[in-house]
Amino acid sequence: MAGLISSSIGRKYAMAFSAFFLLSFLILHLVVNLLSLFGPNAYNNASDFMGYNPLVQYIMQPILVAGVIFHFVMGFILELRNNAARPIKYGVNNGSANSTWMSRNMIISGLVILAFLGLHMYDFWYHEMNYKYIEGLPVVENRFWTDLHEKFANPVRVGLYVVSFVLLGLHLAHGFQSSFQSIGARHPKYTPGIKAFGTWFSILVPAGFIIIALFHFITQ
Ligand code: HEM
Repeated sequence: MAGLISSSIGRKYAMAFSAFFLLSFLILHLVVNLLSLFGPNAYNNASDFMGYNPLVQYIMQPILVAGVIFHFVMGFILELRNNAARPIKYGVNNGSANSTWMSRNMIISGLVILAFLGLHMYDFWYHEMNYKYIEGLPVVENRFWTDLHEKFANPVRVGLYVVSFVLLGLHLAHGFQSSFQSIGARHPKYTPGIKAFGTWFSILVPAGFIIIALFHFITQ
């Protein structure tokens, strides 16, 4: 671990692989939550499976939490190291002339996503852990969809979620293609395709989350 952090290549690789892992989680998370648009049944079944399957609960979930924490900690370390290596900020590199807003402000979009995750964990994860493990309440059929639907009755929460998803899109817009660059996956034939895929990914995934939040708000 110390070796990873001390070499700049190691830091970039670690950041990229944790990003790939989180991207795959995002797709799964989006697909499960999109089911809620088609009524309670499919969503309740999927959530029930995820919520009570020991493999998901005791292996996949801790790995996911570790992956999220690792990505944020490495992100901060990279930012601090980059700033230390560049004492005169953008003396030569004058902002948008050489790089995009997204690439220069990954730490800002990352912090917004971190704040969102704090709220989101409180809204759903804490509620779920409390229900199952602290209060030890019984398995009640069809509770997942109702819980989700009721959360999006509050316009302030919906607004905060939508703003966070827009920032998530900006973070992905740079992060997706940058992760491929970091692991050296650069090729005149494939790089344009990776960039185009990344652009669509960073639009469609946050748009999917926004649709879920707005759907539940509008159909209260
Ligand atoms: C409208 C959009 C979203 C909805 C409806 C939603 C719903 C949920 C629900 C119901 C849970 C609790 C799962 C459980 O433990 O039983 C959860 C957990 C979680 N969500 Fe979301 N989520 C949304 C967007 C996001 C986004 C954009 C991210 C990442 C940036 C995210 C990251 C997480 C994480 C890390 C967990 C904890 C791990 C887990 O329990 O699976 N969610 N979400």
